[in-house]
Amino acid sequence: MAFSSSSSLITLALLLSLSVCSVTSTSKFDELFQPYWAADHFSFDGDTVNMKLDNFSGAGFSSKSKYMFGKVNVQIKLVEGDSAGTVTAFYMSSDGAKHHEFDFEFLGNTTGEPYIVQTNVYVNGVGNREQRLNLWFDPTKDFHAYSILWNQRQVVFLVDETPIRVHSNLEHKGIPFPKDQAMGVYSSIWNADDWATQGGRVKTDWTHAPFVASYRSFEINGCECPVSTADSDNAKRCASSGGWWDQPILSELNVHQSHQLIWVRANHMIYDYCSDAGRFPSVPVECEHHRH
Ligand SMILES: *[C@@H]1O[C@H](CO)[C@@H](O)[C@H](O)[C@H]1NC(C)=O
Ligand SMILES: *[C@@H]1O[C@H](CO)[C@@H](O)[C@H](O)[C@H]1NC(C)=O
Repeated sequence: MAFSSSSSLITLALLLSLSVCSVTSTSKFDELFQPYWAADHFSFDGDTVNMKLDNFSGAGFSSKSKYMFGKVNVQIKLVEGDSAGTVTAFYMSSDGAKHHEFDFEFLGNTTGEPYIVQTNVYVNGVGNREQRLNLWFDPTKDFHAYSILWNQRQVVFLVDETPIRVHSNLEHKGIPFPKDQAMGVYSSIWNADDWATQGGRVKTDWTHAPFVASYRSFEINGCECPVSTADSDNAKRCASSGGWWDQPILSELNVHQSHQLIWVRANHMIYDYCSDAGRFPSVPVECEHHRH
């Protein structure tokens, strides 16, 4: 049948890409990541990594390698109880003033009030593309999967495999798309009570510290970029490696995913920079083309 032959083709392509490109896939924290800020604010419990924020410090970890294209995934259980003033972030970023960045930022709240998930995309050092949503579950009760899929056609933010945001490649409209810089994978927790909760009105209550975010199921499936190799060489290699992320079916959301995104936007989105006329009197150029 057509289906089975095309899936075996995909399997073959996958096998080939595994041999051509250095694809990393593993779920162990130590193999992929290291603390880069406040190693003494980490604790390890089996496969779970806990990072704490207290009145002395926040904490953060970063990937040991950098990547171009692929998918990163982690399961996070956010700060339970009072998390007002705290921000926990999971993101990819390249280095330098003209860096690219794909962000998940989880804005804490007082006990019983909902977390906000803010996403942002920086291209060539410029962000200002915030979107905010509430989740359809309490992210402090259980672990949930947060992922970023990145290929030459799109960047997709996913929560439990449900797409919540798509940043499409609109280079054919003259809009730059991030696909020329290797990115690291990062997470951190810090005090941001100057802006995070209800616009900065609710401050961090340090009597409730430490604030702990927990992580597990670390996965990076991407084209690994040696630090010693120039970005332009990595870009050439990773773009032509025939990686699984460049399968035509991943060049845009499928029908089911498009419906999921419509549902998220209709029921859970609370802010979209594309419709903030006060901030952007003329609509940002990519918003005219992003039809999601
Ligand atoms: C941090 O919090 C602890 C416990 O609440 C308190 O004893 C200590 O004085 C605080 N330290 C600073 C630097 O604020
Ligand atoms: C916190 O809860 C309040 C009240 O429900 C809500 O208005 C706000 O958007 C929530 N999130 C943040 C980060 O302030």
